[in-house]
Parts: sequence; C-alpha cells; structure tokens
Amino acid sequence: MEKEQIIIFDTTLRDGEQSPGASMNTKEKIQIATQLERLGVDVIEAGFAAASKGDFEAINQIAQVVKNSTVCSLARALERDITEAAKAIEVAPKKRIHTFIATSPIHMEYKLKMTPEQVIKKAVEAVALAKSFVDDVEFSCEDAGRSEISFLKEISDAVIEAGAKTINLPDTVGIRLPDEIANMVSQMHQYIGDRAIISVHNHNDLGLAVANSLAAISSGARQVECTINGLGERAGNAALEEIVMALKVREDIFSNVYTNINTKEIYPASRMIATITGIEPQPNKAIVGKNAFAHESGIHQDGMLKNRKTYEIFSPEEIGLNKEDTLVLGKHSGRAAFIDKLKKLGFELSEDELNSVFERFKELADRKKDIYDDDIRALITSNMTSIDKSYELVALQLMDSTGGVPSAAVTIKTPDGKEITDAGIGDGTIDAIFKTIDRITKQHGKLMDYKVKSVSKGKDALANVTVQVAFGENEPALIGHGLSVDTMLASARAYIGALNSYLTMQGMLKKRYEDSQSSI
Ligand code: KIV
Ligand code: ZN
Repeated sequence: MEKEQIIIFDTTLRDGEQSPGASMNTKEKIQIATQLERLGVDVIEAGFAAASKGDFEAINQIAQVVKNSTVCSLARALERDITEAAKAIEVAPKKRIHTFIATSPIHMEYKLKMTPEQVIKKAVEAVALAKSFVDDVEFSCEDAGRSEISFLKEISDAVIEAGAKTINLPDTVGIRLPDEIANMVSQMHQYIGDRAIISVHNHNDLGLAVANSLAAISSGARQVECTINGLGERAGNAALEEIVMALKVREDIFSNVYTNINTKEIYPASRMIATITGIEPQPNKAIVGKNAFAHESGIHQDGMLKNRKTYEIFSPEEIGLNKEDTLVLGKHSGRAAFIDKLKKLGFELSEDELNSVFERFKELADRKKDIYDDDIRALITSNMTSIDKSYELVALQLMDSTGGVPSAAVTIKTPDGKEITDAGIGDGTIDAIFKTIDRITKQHGKLMDYKVKSVSKGKDALANVTVQVAFGENEPALIGHGLSVDTMLASARAYIGALNSYLTMQGMLKKRYEDSQSSI
C-alpha cells in the first residue's frame, strides 16, 4: 500500500503567538520561520495579516525568505482581511490564504448574529475572493467540534465549489474526545472524498489535542494544524513534536502515512521558540521537556546502562538533542566554531548581526567560564531586537533604595551617536529605570509583561529578562530581551530592545508607505 502524506501545518507564528505573553518581533519571526522550513513543515501560518501592521510586515518578510514551505496568512471571511492576506503573501513562491467563519449554533447566534444561510454566503464570498488571488485556499469551520455534521457538510459543499482545497475542522474550544473527533472526521472524509483535504486543528483544553489529532489521522484527516511546544490560545494547540514523534515511534500503527518532518530539527526549534517567547515547556513535557530523557531512579539507570531501550522509546539524537553538544564554547573558541554552533542551533544571521553577536559572545566569555547552548540562544535573541540605527545602553547606575526613593541614572547612545544622561525616580527600581529611559528617548512605554529567568547553570548564570511594552495608544505590545549577569542591567537592555523593535517596525511601515507612494 502506498503511504499517504500528512501535511504538517504549523501555526506557532499565528495561534502560538496568541498565547498570552508570546508576541514576537519581525526578526524573531523570520528566524522561527526559517527554522520551521528547515524542520520540513509543509505550511507555515505566518500570522493574521489584517490583525495589525506588525503582523502584516512580519508575514510579508517571511514570504520573501521562505522558499520551500507554503506561506499562509489567516483571514476572517471579510473582504479587507482577505485582500490584506493576499498582499502580505504575494511574493511567496508557495502561498495559501486561510479563511474562516464560525459554524456552530452558539457562535452563529451569539457571536456572529447571523443565520446559517448568511454564514454560508459569507464563506463562499470569502473563498471566491481568496481564490482570485491564490490557488491554494483553506477554509475553516470555526468551532466545528460543536457544529452539526449536516451543516458542516452543507458549508463544505459550498466552499469546495467556490475553490477551497482544504477543509479544516477545528475543535476550537478543545472539548472533544478522541472517539468523537474520529467520528466527525470519518463522516466528513466519506462525504467529501477526494474533493478536498480534511484538516484538524485541536485545542488542548482537556489535554487531548494530540490524541485527537492522531484519532483524526486514523480516520482520514491528511493535514494537522499544530504548534511547536504546543503553544497557542488558552491551553494551547496540539504539539507538533508530539504528533510527529507519535507517528514515527508508532509506525506499526500509522503504517499508511508519513510526514516530511526532519525530526533532528525538533529540539533546536523547541529551544529557539522557548528562548524567543520566554515560555519554557514544562519540565515533564513530552519529547522536549527538560526531564524527557532524565532517568532518576536507580533501577531505571541500571537498565539504561545495560540497554538504553529498556526505558527509552526513542533516542534524544532522533530529535536533535545531542548531549555532548550542550557544554559548548569558552573564551578561546574562535569565530569558525561560533558560526558552526549558530548553524547547529538553527540561526541564520547576516554578516553584521554575526559580528555584533560574536563581539558580545567574547565579552560574555570574559566573565563566564563555560558557555552553554542556552546562553548562545539567549545572546542571539537579546541581540535580535537591535537595528542599525538604534538606542544603546551605555551605563546604568542605581541609587540605594533601602528606605529611600528608588532612582536610576541612565546613559544612552541615541541613533545619531549622541550620549545622553538623565536620572529619574520611580515606584520601584525597575520603574525608575524604565521611566528614565522614556525621558531620554521621548517615548512613553506601558509595561505589559516582565519575566526574568536564569539561563543555563552555575553561580555566574545569566539573567534573561523578557519584557512586553506597548509604545503609544492602540499599538501592539512588543517584546524585548536583555541579557546580563546583573538583572537590573538585563531589564534596562530588554526595555531598550522593545523600544528598538518598535522603532524598527515604524521605520518599515514608513518605508512601505513611501515605496507605495513612489510606485503610484
Ligand atoms: O481555533 C480555531 O478555531 C482557530 C481557527 C481560526 C482555525 O484558530
Ligand atoms: Zn486555534
């Protein structure tokens, strides 16, 4: 029997980004998209073009660099959403528009306030419009898990007729059990036949997203939507690494299907996303958690020494976790070794970025004896927010706040090379630092999220601070990373990083506007 392909549709950059605190800047999204392509993902949902200017820009840039995977933008069944999606992905060699509307009685009545007939009409108009821009159109019946099968069939007939090639059946609220998903998918599969590919998109509210995705594959689904580390709205989406490894390890059961995923790129992808978002997978998370290959009990350790297969169902190397690589570089490591390490970790940097990261690596190596893979990842991501013409922290001095008013003196180099020093007070030390930075840069940031995490091990471990800051009314919160052995210094760097991301985005938007004016 010929094996059939399971299309891996990754939505880390769209649904994954909807995880609270997971927003990423354009440079970070490009690194992730490049790693997803290396991983062998078939479709990269790069974002929701109409959601914000930043989303549009990121999708557009991803469309310019990704060559092998299909680049997709989400769009509600609205004219503006679809035209924005089409514009954003226009340059991609392989492109898809993914449009959706809710089909469950509760969503149609309360959210959309539309009749089923109106919903079908909107869906058909949306698919037909999308089809006028791209050949590859996916239609999602939002909340399919709570929709009536007869209605799913009716709307599928209509959108397939209008040109949809993939029908996605999301369990949007994560309520279904594997048997129920299997039942829905097999009925739809029998009904639709080869007129369209059936896809699933399972949320993890009951911890069943992966089990549901596997049940769907057994019942005829040939596309699964998933995210790295299971990121996503609320409890997240089905984890890509779990689905792929289940199909691989249990090939005896899934003997009729295959994926294009290069499993050796799973671990680098997982670490890259955890570092960029600041959201670590739980230690006991399947496949990529810190403890996934840790054997604690004596009996297990004894078994492992005799034969690894006694307690390991696949080797760490199969997902690209090579233990001998985790202790990496030191003060005497050269540029070639450093470049080789970056490649292994999945990062692709321009010459300028490489020079700047290498310089920071050397500074770090002077202060820290052993540098681990996670240190390098943090170093790169903390550098990723900077642009050629950006603000740079030169010095930070904190006044003792014990019993007094917390205050900070900050020196910043401005994009035109001037050094400005100012001092300010705040409700706490961090507040004083951020307010002083605002005064110097004449910006007004609103701190939405602040996280501090120690990277790798040892007394000289680095503090990696991740902030989310919104600059300006109705502007999306942007992420900044700061790295230092000193948490306050790392916080100041992170804040300036978010500000630089904001200015980069503004610059890109200005350029796009000027380009569009000059081509009129
Ligand atoms: O969960 C969901 O229903 C979605 C759709 C937009 C596909 O994310
Ligand atoms: Zn979703």
